[in-house]
Amino acid sequence: MENISFITGGAGFIGSNFILRWLKNETGKIVNIDKMTYAGNPYFLTEMEKESRHIHEKVDIADRDRLLPLFRDYRPKTVIHFAGESHVDRSITDPSPFLHTNIIGTFTLLEAVRHYFFQLLSHEDQQDFRFLHISTDEVFGSLNLQHNEKFTETSCYEPSTPYAASKASGDHLVRAWQKTYRLPTISVHCSNNYGQRQSPEKLIPKTIINILNGNPMTVYGDGLHRRNWLYVDDCCDAIYQVWKQGRIGERYNIGGFTEKNVLSVIETIYNFMKETGIRVVLPIWDFIRLTSDRPGNDRCYALNSEKIKTELGWEPVTDFDTGIKRTIDWYQEHRDWLNEAADRNQNVF
Ligand SMILES: NC(=O)c1ccc[n+]([C@@H]2O[C@H](COP(=O)([O-])OP(=O)(O)OC[C@H]3O[C@@H](n4cnc5c(N)ncnc54)[C@H](O)[C@@H]3O)[C@@H](O)[C@H]2O)c1
Repeated sequence: MENISFITGGAGFIGSNFILRWLKNETGKIVNIDKMTYAGNPYFLTEMEKESRHIHEKVDIADRDRLLPLFRDYRPKTVIHFAGESHVDRSITDPSPFLHTNIIGTFTLLEAVRHYFFQLLSHEDQQDFRFLHISTDEVFGSLNLQHNEKFTETSCYEPSTPYAASKASGDHLVRAWQKTYRLPTISVHCSNNYGQRQSPEKLIPKTIINILNGNPMTVYGDGLHRRNWLYVDDCCDAIYQVWKQGRIGERYNIGGFTEKNVLSVIETIYNFMKETGIRVVLPIWDFIRLTSDRPGNDRCYALNSEKIKTELGWEPVTDFDTGIKRTIDWYQEHRDWLNEAADRNQNVF
């Protein structure tokens, strides 16, 4: 059996970073199943296509008739499922693509995997096969800002937004397919990723582009909503470790070093950019413009990542300041890409 892995959503932020990392470490081939929504970036595909071991299949994971032949033709050893609708604001404006991809898409993919696993794989190949599902800390809802709590892998699901509810539904389907059909699945809950190749609709690239373009930055509510921040290279390392060594049927939290509120993140970026001599047009008090809060905006997320540390020896290695500086450098070097991606996402600016 050829060494082929399926990655879904590999033209997006985390998936593209993961593929580039994977190609450095592995000798096999990647089939990148990505429908190319507004979040799928053709520029990333060009980067990956320099490498002949990357094959892009422009397929919707909710399209059963297109998925099944892919499994039959390529016979993957593994499926790592990143594809998703990922932007909370969009899920509030229009939840339907979130239900389509995060629920129906995940269900359709699981069914294709089930068919493939039981009908097409030998007993020997079944032993090695894995389905790895990428989920979020947002499925757990909000922590109390005053208490020093963190979510563990057994915390209750209390999703607050259509995005979080759709991801929670996907998680439940994955768990049920493992329990009922004994599919070899593993799930991870990642905290807020940041770094190179993130869509400019998300907080950190949006802050950078607004500073570069001299525009103000709108912030929901009082801006004191706290998040755990994880540099994308650390996240990809963790996912890689879980894929290599994680136990079937388990869930692993993947959190970063730093918990910071939104205002503090924006101020850090602003100050770094100013220090490095970038022309900052607006003074900080004029740059940040508070608006009314977003519905369902959870006050605080924090993850306890002891399990992955103890079992698999993974810990984040990139502190927030280092990660942010690298991110700013990358966006400055890719201003053409940033402006082009911002045009495709123009309704968020
Ligand atoms: N970014 C984060 O901070 C974060 C944190 C925790 C979990 N996650 C999860 O990780 C995954 C990847 O997140 P991201 O930030 O890279 O997302 P992203 O929005 O940057 O990329 C998503 C990718 O999925 C593709 N896609 C969407 N719908 C599809 C469909 N129906 N069929 C095939 N491809 C489809 C898009 O074209 C895009 O390339 C998502 O499932 C997300 O929920 C993200």
